[in-house]
Amino acid sequence: KKGNYDHFMQKEIHEQPHSLTTTMRGRLRDNSVVLGGLKDHLKTIRHSRRIIFIGCGTSYNAALAARPFLEELSGIPVSMELASDLLDRQGPIYREDTAVFVSQSGETADTLLALEYSLANGALCVGITNTVGSTLARKTHCGVHINAGCEIGVASTKAYTSQIVVITMMALAIGADKLSTQSRREDIINNLPTLPDKVSDVLKLDVQMKDLARSLMQMQSLLVFGRGYNYATALEGALKVKEVALMHSEGMLAGEMKHGPLALVDETLPIIVIATRDACFSKQQSVIQQLHARKGRLIVMCSVGDAASVCAGGSCRIIEVPQVADCLQPVINIIPLQLLAYHLTVSRGYDVDQPRNLAKSVTTQ
Ligand code: UD1
Ligand code: F6R
Repeated sequence: KKGNYDHFMQKEIHEQPHSLTTTMRGRLRDNSVVLGGLKDHLKTIRHSRRIIFIGCGTSYNAALAARPFLEELSGIPVSMELASDLLDRQGPIYREDTAVFVSQSGETADTLLALEYSLANGALCVGITNTVGSTLARKTHCGVHINAGCEIGVASTKAYTSQIVVITMMALAIGADKLSTQSRREDIINNLPTLPDKVSDVLKLDVQMKDLARSLMQMQSLLVFGRGYNYATALEGALKVKEVALMHSEGMLAGEMKHGPLALVDETLPIIVIATRDACFSKQQSVIQQLHARKGRLIVMCSVGDAASVCAGGSCRIIEVPQVADCLQPVINIIPLQLLAYHLTVSRGYDVDQPRNLAKSVTTQ
């Protein structure tokens, strides 16, 4: 079942042009998005006072990646909850809320308990899952299947990118009644079908990421700085590295750098900075300059052709990725980091598909 691949994680990373195609299949029309599972509920969602994403791990990160675009198109405040934290706090959930539960398996215990809690509080409960017939799919009022195909590797890869695309399509459907954002929506709808080819392009970095993994395999730690659309990319890249390569790694909001993390910077600690083109680009350029000034060991991810603009006069390794529309860029940017985590794991001699202490579906609290 692994075909030409050594591991399921590797197969699933390389499958993403296909899984993203199946996620979008039948859902894009001329200048509109049709999500069969949501269309009867869009009015209620548009009238809700708040949209709350609830999930764990990678599924939470996927929602975080798509949040800026949903806020932009819906004009509704969008908040984020890790399922266990919502339960620990017994945080307020209201009838006027739309609670969106994101779960690849649809069986994660904390996510399902948060669903029970939100149903009891009268919120509209929407599911986003890869598993038809799962508890999440059955117990939510409505939802969307991400249709990424079965994911076997414990580390979630193709489900992450499909979740981002589904939530982006959800934002397009919710915002469809607004004239003021029509050209923005059309631009993204026209860009979505080009995404699988761009993913194929970025997968060509495989050899380069293997090389980078070899140079990092002895390190104790790896930091990843992102912001804006790619704050989630930093968190998710670091999660992949820690869970499969068993290397300490932290994803951080670049805007928080001066509030603590900067103290860690020296000549030895490797730091990945995500600096692809979007509204935050110049802020990331200045972050890179400040890290250079402290002799940080930098690896910069930038858009193709931008190497000189992100690393003027400094020495850093560069990961050049194809540029896509800003809100879709997280789908591209996570892929080199998935490849890096994969190759780090193989180089360090750990089990890729069954990381120590982890289970694919966390059905206990
Ligand atoms: C559906 C069919 C698909 C078919 C298409 C044709 C299923 C599972 N999907 O896809 O095979 O090709 O119509 O028009 O039969 N739901 C939840 N919670 C969730 C996820 C989904 O309640 O977490 C509900 C949805 O609200 C919907 C149903 O499950 O009523 C199917 O969802 P989805 O597969 O996303 O719908 P379509 O894309 O329309
Ligand atoms: C990381 C990973 C986990 C899951 C988390 C939620 O690669 O797989 O962090 O994302 O356990 O699982 P689901 O999405 O099934 O609810």
